[in-house]
Amino acid sequence: MKKITTFTFLFVSFFAMAQQETIDQKVNALLKKMTIEEKIGQLNQYTGDNSATGPITINPNKQAEIKAGLIGSMLNIIGTKYTRQYQELAMQSRLKIPLLFGQDVIHGYKTTFPIPLAEAASWDLKTIELAARVAATEASASGIHWTFAPMVDIGRDPRWGRVMEGAGEDTYLGSKIAYARVKGFQGNKLGDLNSVMACVKHFAAYGAAVGGRDYNSVDMSERMLLETYLPPFKAALDAGAATFMNSFNDLNGIPATGNAHLQRDILKGKWNFQGFVVSDWGSIGEMVAHGYSKDLKEAAYAAITAGSDMDMESNAYRYNLAELVKEGRVSIDLIDDAVKRILRKKYELGLFDDPYRYSDEKRAEKELNNPENRKAALEAAEKSIVLLKNENQTLPLSKNLKTIAFIGPMVKEYKANMGFWSVELPEVNYDKWVVSQWDGLQNKVGKNTKLLYAKGCEVDGDNKDGFAEAVAAAKQADVVILSIGERRDMSGEAKSRSDLHLPGVQEDLVKAIQATGKPVIVLVNAGRPLIFNWTADNVPAILYTWWLGTEAGNAIANVLFGDYNPSGKLPMTFPREVGQIPIYYNHYSTGRPAKDEDSKNYVSAYIDLKNSPKFPFGYGLSYTKFDYSNLKLSSASMKNNETIKVSFQLSNVGKAAGEEVVQLYLKDKFGSVVRPVLELRDFQKIKLNAGESKTIEFTIDKEKLSFYNNKLEWTAEPGDFEVMIGASSADIKLKSDFKFN
Ligand code: GLC
Repeated sequence: MKKITTFTFLFVSFFAMAQQETIDQKVNALLKKMTIEEKIGQLNQYTGDNSATGPITINPNKQAEIKAGLIGSMLNIIGTKYTRQYQELAMQSRLKIPLLFGQDVIHGYKTTFPIPLAEAASWDLKTIELAARVAATEASASGIHWTFAPMVDIGRDPRWGRVMEGAGEDTYLGSKIAYARVKGFQGNKLGDLNSVMACVKHFAAYGAAVGGRDYNSVDMSERMLLETYLPPFKAALDAGAATFMNSFNDLNGIPATGNAHLQRDILKGKWNFQGFVVSDWGSIGEMVAHGYSKDLKEAAYAAITAGSDMDMESNAYRYNLAELVKEGRVSIDLIDDAVKRILRKKYELGLFDDPYRYSDEKRAEKELNNPENRKAALEAAEKSIVLLKNENQTLPLSKNLKTIAFIGPMVKEYKANMGFWSVELPEVNYDKWVVSQWDGLQNKVGKNTKLLYAKGCEVDGDNKDGFAEAVAAAKQADVVILSIGERRDMSGEAKSRSDLHLPGVQEDLVKAIQATGKPVIVLVNAGRPLIFNWTADNVPAILYTWWLGTEAGNAIANVLFGDYNPSGKLPMTFPREVGQIPIYYNHYSTGRPAKDEDSKNYVSAYIDLKNSPKFPFGYGLSYTKFDYSNLKLSSASMKNNETIKVSFQLSNVGKAAGEEVVQLYLKDKFGSVVRPVLELRDFQKIKLNAGESKTIEFTIDKEKLSFYNNKLEWTAEPGDFEVMIGASSADIKLKSDFKFN
């Protein structure tokens, strides 16, 4: 058997090499025919004008330039009809080099999934991969070759509106999710009809913008960059990511787009990335505004030498590269390298064989928003909901309730459930496409249950005129459900907020409804951690429902009535006040750590606030109860290439089946640099029926102990460690010590 396997492996490798060699040969042969203008054309990308995702560069000649071979890629061209039309223009060019069509398919194409931060709360890698797989299947049927996702920026600052787009604050969880998303988008291999190229963004450290203000500067140590912000990018690359997108921010004084340390030393050098890098919208030209490049020509010089291959929207390459080559300042080899990287992907996608293979009306009709895809979206949405509070067994609701009042500005919303970065498809009736929260409740309750509705107030503004009607409805009900939060355009790109409290008078509405004495359940819809301290302290039941996509209403109803037992865990720390930010769980101890949330005297604390977050990383409740017991380590110490097996018993001691995300944290008690108070190093999502128990096992190896030491070497240092098993980063159920020798 072994011999055959070896032979098969060698044959397959040789065949793949032969095929790859064919692609390289084709690329080189084509390159030889290209004029410099045609080469630079391949480095040029523009947006379609109907749904721009940034400040548009006015260029009325885009179609003529495509025909002249001066544009290599377009983004925001929606649907098979338009992608086919644009591709037909490219087929009129001298060399008939097909266009690449890119699109921000961030959390679904037509079937819209929960926003990525919500999906991260599921801690369910298979579900997350499937969501990307469905998105790729729908997008690729609609002419899209390339999605500008996954966004893998670590987000530790909820003032930054783009935390909604990523996987939260933790490097380990973020790396696992980055890998899963790339696998989902790219499927078995590029060139499969239902696969699209992934684009890992934003390279790099965009989420660390000072003040959480979008596009703002980033300044951090090389250690922080290497240990916290880059690993999700490397994980995405290990998953085979075809492309990267750089970022708007300057990093340690150099804009990422012109940053050779990031793009040449690390990405294309140490990591040996063979794909191509696209600039983020106009970021090449923005190096002038950064005060880094004197003018567009210098920006083009800085970007191409730093390893930015494709210029999205800035015109820098189009107007300046040929001159820079003629002046001898830019070698044609740099241009050729960038062009080859792009052409290789066009060959791998099969576009030279059939430029229209992805613009398939029949496939689009079959794939888009079909029942199977909507079922996947429903399941992802259910798993993303986080139960933050459930006193007096308020939830799940009984199906025999006589009257339910459903109140709040989000109840009858459609598009708001889609979240930022949902694809703006033309000619759709959102009320036919999205299940609102009101629809979901109507779908769920029987004819004997009466539903009352009142809006109460708007998401923002100070108008309380609707309160009386809302209170009146509440008084007639057995139970009140309040759906509040952010509007869809309050998180996302260029949506940083200085104040994270519930907008408008929504919390006053909560108080007015709570005052009726009825059992109240609050649903918080948002793209980021919000601050709602009064609600959190006074309302008996709270579900964080993020923005859950096209099946939002059904998912929420299933959780409210216990048809799905909530299993989400927070992927980001929720602050008590903005003043605590940045606040994240894997912080350093400091020399004067606060021993509890109330200690103040000569410790690292605020005198006007508890030292703990409102809700910690990894936190989420269930309708059932899990018991952790019987922690065992296979050994009390380990050497270099050894491992320690960690096992414990998880028991469902409640009355309902449920899923628990068990989290393995490690603490390196001392090192050649200070080490975090604890770090997530593994997790498993376990489903148990009521009364069921299971032995759970983790393995600790040297990689899990490793970090960048005081010489910036990735290593594990001998010493004392603590292993912790937690239901969250602040709820450690079991712990033990071990040594690494
Ligand atoms: C935007 C975003 C980026 C997106 C690109 C194209 O400005 O920063 O994430 O992929 O432009 O829409």
